[in-house]
Amino acid sequence: MRYSEQSLPVGVVSGPASAVEADVIVAVACEGEAAAASAAFDGAAGGRVSGAFDSREFTAKPGTVFVTPCVSPWHASRLLLVGGGPRAGFDTAQLRRAATTAALTARERRWRRIAFLLPSILPPGDEAQAASEGLTLAAHYTGIYKSDADARPAVLEPMIVTPDEASADARDAAERSAARGYILAACSNLARALANEPANVITPRTFSEIAAHLAAESGLKADVLDEERLAGLNMGLLLGVARGSAERPRMVVLRYEPVRPATRAVLGLVGKGVTFDTGGISIKPSEKMHLMKSDMSGGAAVLGAMKAIAALKPGAAVVGVIPLVENMPGGRAMRPGDVVRSAEGKTVEVLDTDAEGRLILADALWYARQIGATHLVDVATLTGAIGIALGRTTTGLFGAPDDWVSLVGRTANRAGDRAWPLPLFDDYREQLRSDIADLANIGGRPAGSITAAMFLKEFTGGLPWAHLDIAWTAWAEEAQPWQPKGPTGVAVRTLAELACAHDDWPPLAP
Ligand code: BES
Ligand code: MN
Ligand code: ZN
Repeated sequence: MRYSEQSLPVGVVSGPASAVEADVIVAVACEGEAAAASAAFDGAAGGRVSGAFDSREFTAKPGTVFVTPCVSPWHASRLLLVGGGPRAGFDTAQLRRAATTAALTARERRWRRIAFLLPSILPPGDEAQAASEGLTLAAHYTGIYKSDADARPAVLEPMIVTPDEASADARDAAERSAARGYILAACSNLARALANEPANVITPRTFSEIAAHLAAESGLKADVLDEERLAGLNMGLLLGVARGSAERPRMVVLRYEPVRPATRAVLGLVGKGVTFDTGGISIKPSEKMHLMKSDMSGGAAVLGAMKAIAALKPGAAVVGVIPLVENMPGGRAMRPGDVVRSAEGKTVEVLDTDAEGRLILADALWYARQIGATHLVDVATLTGAIGIALGRTTTGLFGAPDDWVSLVGRTANRAGDRAWPLPLFDDYREQLRSDIADLANIGGRPAGSITAAMFLKEFTGGLPWAHLDIAWTAWAEEAQPWQPKGPTGVAVRTLAELACAHDDWPPLAP
């Protein structure tokens, strides 16, 4: 894979804004606040800000921009106003999107030095982190296989500008927050780059090689289990899915250990790594099948999060487990009706070979427990049904107990990865009954995302566990001003922030 870092760290400078040298200086304007924006920036723009509001050329709605040349005494070449939406709903998610919108505009027009003025609406550290994330997310580039080198976008030199009156302490805090935001977003972009790679490039073997390389670079311990070791551990569900492919399976295990642990708890992150999902013998229709190259987005999110965790150095240990297979309909493939046995010992009747994610995750959740995880989160492009329930903007959230699930949900929403809970009532378990084995791997059309989660729950050993179904949030089918078409990097920031929030994890069982 030809992945290379396409972004530069985000610098921090302090005001006055008029003195900042840049190709473009960016300010956030809120809807209905023409007077405030004009008072602040008409001086920079020779009166054209109030004009743009008056003519409604610029409305300050989210995703909108207005660009005008700067006049003396301002030093930047141009002023870009970006819409923040209504001030009442302005939060870090709006700020992050505004920063990405502005930076994508700058990248498009090849303005390299972009200076982003913090709007001073939210707590300063939160603003610096969200702005830094937004600016860095704009570096994601999907055209690496295009031959025309001139079409490559510019590499931005982003900086954030703290308010003029900020104290030295506030500036230090802004620098730490900006560095943190850069790490989180650059690791989100790594996950996006992986998810965008075709399945002839990313196979279980090459994914595991990238993971081992990345671990060596970032000081994580890595263990790559090959087919022989997976067989030694009796991972019959994972091996069953792998049977139909010429590409042999792997399981990547990454471990972060703090120098001075603040807790005995160990976070276990498990990510679905199906490098291509044809459906197997229960084969999928060919329309849109190519997008199943991204069926390893959960695994990519865990890898990105582990890289971020290695850099952020939280006080809790974290293990990342990524089961890797290609789901193909080969001559040795599993058949509908086959019965396979999990490493934990439970038997499963495979009524649909396209419900493969839950099979590999079951053995991976078991393995995460074997190596010491005390709190589990899995991330998976698991069910098409989640999009019917929640659409393209919201990740499905499941699990138990409630305090763990709600912590994961709050962390996700703060990180800009919106997630919303669905229930796991015991009744749903009946849909997974098999006539001949402990469990069937599908539960019918009704509540399809819930029965998939109920299946996973069987393999969590009663530990605190949360499941994020990202089937419709890992890939943007339509471009937005702040989000190009393609992989989104969903869940990377959530998982890394969760690792850092260990003071809020529910206590270990005695
Ligand atoms: N990888 C798919 C889920 C998916 C669907 C991801 C659409 C992204 C976009 C998963 O392995 C799958 O095929 N699920 C089946 C389950 C069914 C057979 C119970 C599905 O959703 O149809
Ligand atoms: Mn499938
Ligand atoms: Zn799948």
